[in-house]
Amino acid sequence: MTLAFSKVAIIGAGAMGRGIAQIAAQAGSHVWLYDTQAEAVAKAQEAVFQQWDKLKEKGRLAPEAVADHKARLHAAASLTDLAECELVVEAIVEKLDIKKSLFSELEKVLSPSAILVTNTSSLSVTAIAAALQRPAQFAGYHFFNPVPLMKVVEVIAGLKTDPAVCQRLSEFARQMGHTPVQAQDTPGFIVNHAGRGYSTEALRIVSEGVADFATVDRILRDQVGFKLGPFELFDLTALDVSHHVIEAIYHQYYEEPRYRPNVITAQRLAGGVVGKKVGEGFYKYTDGKAHVPDEPPVPTVENMPPVWVSPRAARRMPLLQLLKDLGAKIETGASPSPEALTLVAPLGFDVTTVAVVERLDPARTVGIDMLFDDASTKRRVLATNPATRSDMRDAAHALFARDGKAVSVIRDSGGFVTQRVVATIVNIASDICQQRICTPQDLETAVMLGLAYPMGPLAMGNRLGPDSVLEVLFNLQTVYGDMRYRPSPWLRRRGAIGLSLMHTED
Ligand code: NAI
Repeated sequence: MTLAFSKVAIIGAGAMGRGIAQIAAQAGSHVWLYDTQAEAVAKAQEAVFQQWDKLKEKGRLAPEAVADHKARLHAAASLTDLAECELVVEAIVEKLDIKKSLFSELEKVLSPSAILVTNTSSLSVTAIAAALQRPAQFAGYHFFNPVPLMKVVEVIAGLKTDPAVCQRLSEFARQMGHTPVQAQDTPGFIVNHAGRGYSTEALRIVSEGVADFATVDRILRDQVGFKLGPFELFDLTALDVSHHVIEAIYHQYYEEPRYRPNVITAQRLAGGVVGKKVGEGFYKYTDGKAHVPDEPPVPTVENMPPVWVSPRAARRMPLLQLLKDLGAKIETGASPSPEALTLVAPLGFDVTTVAVVERLDPARTVGIDMLFDDASTKRRVLATNPATRSDMRDAAHALFARDGKAVSVIRDSGGFVTQRVVATIVNIASDICQQRICTPQDLETAVMLGLAYPMGPLAMGNRLGPDSVLEVLFNLQTVYGDMRYRPSPWLRRRGAIGLSLMHTED
């Protein structure tokens, strides 16, 4: 195998630089690490050596391989030591001016054929390249933390980047055992842009008092299969990092409502309640373990009322079958009897609107989220409206918990929790495709590897049916009168004519 780059320089020996140095040396390249703090280089070398020794102890690396890797990881004392390098990866402080002046210095030292890349996560690749003599030789190479475990890298073309440079960087990524995805130079690139749907919509739900953060985490883990709920994720990444990412992407897109930040994270950041690393974020931590508030118990109901299901309920037949399996007395009349618990299953609309439009008694009306097939979820979610009687709420809760499945009861909201979050994720992903930031396939790969979602966002949309996602969004837009829910043209066109969200015109 011919290596795409046999001599590589890494500038900045922090968390990212050392990880990139590790995988580049493992691929067989000679790597020179440089940092303005000489002790940072020594520390990074030591840390990488320890990683390799651990892999040797576990039998995952042969002793000879470890010796070879170590011999290929060099410390550089000054930029002039890097003159022979074919590739320079910058992973220094996230400041535009400092990065620009570093690259100008590097251009003076390196051969004209050398390729320079930045690991920036929030600055424009084109802006960093603006002052360079050879912007065609410059690109973004965005890794994720921790680099050896997060097996994806975004290869970002600035306005003037030569496509051959991106191809060579992609080849090198594969040689390092990573999967490259190609992105245009846009705020957040692919992964941080696609990730906006999950966290920002979850914040809005909590800020509206629809459910508390622990309930939102439970619902999204159990209904969709996310490994971590959005608030567990916030605690892990810490708000001093994620709040700034949210704000940066929002402002860089000129206050696009889809990415609107939330006062919850601004306030918590100001109060220093930033996450697990300080012992308290959304959850409190003792010895690294989160205290999770208990779930409300299933109420005991002596006299279960009969149940009537709206003819307009989503997935009505499976819902009736589920009620039968749970042993409910099902009413079949054209309207509910005066005793009946009245069930609606809206897509996008709130329970209040449905009760009014369908002329149902709101005091006895409860909603259930049927977006996902019940058998594919570990939790059912019910919603009351402001008039729902407590005996009706309790009856619905007890009935749907009869087979032991977890049930959450939330306050009324357009689209429940899962519909809002999933529709927002699919919509933002569709808009990334609409803007041609990357191919649908690269989007799916980037999100699954970079965010560990149970499936790609477009696959999620296809599984539910783009028409259903579209219906949720149109109705959310009506309920909230908010442009953040307007469907991306990519989703609207494909949903309207029944095409897959992976479908490209050409
Ligand atoms: P860090 O703070 O751990 O390390 C930065 C290192 O750069 C420090 O050792 C510092 O001494 C050195 N440095 C600062 N200015 C320098 C200069 N002018 N010349 C040479 N060395 C200099 O930072 P981290 O987390 O490794 O991030 C580095 C870059 O990678 C940033 O641009 C960041 O946005 C990006 N990034 C960070 C991710 C993360 O999760 N930490 C993920 C993806 C990208």
